[in-house]
Amino acid sequence: LDTSATLWWDSHKDCLCYIEQTLLPGEYRIIECRDVDRLATAIRRLEIRGAPALGVAGAYGVALAARTSPHTDFSKVMTGVRQAAELLRSTRPTAINLGWGIDRVLKGLAAARTSDEVRTISLREAENIAAEDTACCHAIGGHGAALLPDRCTVLTHCNAGALACSSWGTALGVIRSAIEAGKDVKVFSCETRPLLQGARLTAWELARDGIDVTVITDSMAAHFMRAGAIDAVIVGADRITHDAVFNKIGTYTHAVTARYHKIPFYVAAPLSTFDAERNERDVVIEERAREEITIMGNRTYVTDSAKVKNPAFDATPMELVTAIITEKGVLRQPIDTRSHLSFCKSH
Ligand code: MRU
Repeated sequence: LDTSATLWWDSHKDCLCYIEQTLLPGEYRIIECRDVDRLATAIRRLEIRGAPALGVAGAYGVALAARTSPHTDFSKVMTGVRQAAELLRSTRPTAINLGWGIDRVLKGLAAARTSDEVRTISLREAENIAAEDTACCHAIGGHGAALLPDRCTVLTHCNAGALACSSWGTALGVIRSAIEAGKDVKVFSCETRPLLQGARLTAWELARDGIDVTVITDSMAAHFMRAGAIDAVIVGADRITHDAVFNKIGTYTHAVTARYHKIPFYVAAPLSTFDAERNERDVVIEERAREEITIMGNRTYVTDSAKVKNPAFDATPMELVTAIITEKGVLRQPIDTRSHLSFCKSH
């Protein structure tokens, strides 16, 4: 199964490289990113997306700011780095990993005393975050694979795969690990309106790995659950508060429908996605442009006089989640993210 990276630092060119995801599956293009403004645009446009990948991108973004600074004076370099960090943080509000990755590099920079140290420490910390993310995905995969029957069909939503992480994936990591363990796993990928991450990205990366994948529209999920075609739902997460799981819009519908049909609903996410001290009502859900809904290709499908809403994420109440699969193990009901996190921190 493919283990190539989604974004990485090219040490020869001294720049951040990433797969431009808005072009997939039609075109596979690697972008060489050399400035923070360009990276901020890439994140807003979803050229890089998915919570763990955003954490890695934020971290590399801080390193990029340090390494492209025109200054030699330590405090001037640090001022630029902090400004870049805030710009990157503001690009997408819901995925907690973005700020988490940025803050981890900033924290590492507390040890820097010279501008050279700012450049080396920031890159080293970003590289660590990327490597840890891959390791987390494999650990999540291992824990999650054990939950799946030997033969099953899993429904997933959006893209919580290699493209949403450094590599391997969270929800799709579970599927990859289960297949690697010899299980026969097939996937139903919901297309994921409006930006089609499921149709464009999940189907592409699973097909590339030779994994059996069927694309359905989001509105077909209940039909296939009722028909007995789905054995489990596995999704990723952008933020997990004390009481809810935030993930791509449409996830909540699948959770409600899965509960009605007595199908397990699993969330696969690293501990860096947890925001256990916060509640659902404290979280800002990103509202995206009207055109993402009204325009397909070069045709407008909605009259200008109609209003449009475009929240990028929804919240699934914790009671609908069968289990959360983390790199440290599986949290089962009653899920108490606060005590789980403090347990993990103390071990
Ligand atoms: O808007 P996106 O494409 O960044 O949304 C991504 C998702 O909702 C993913 O499911 C989530 O980030 C988890 S990725 C492992």
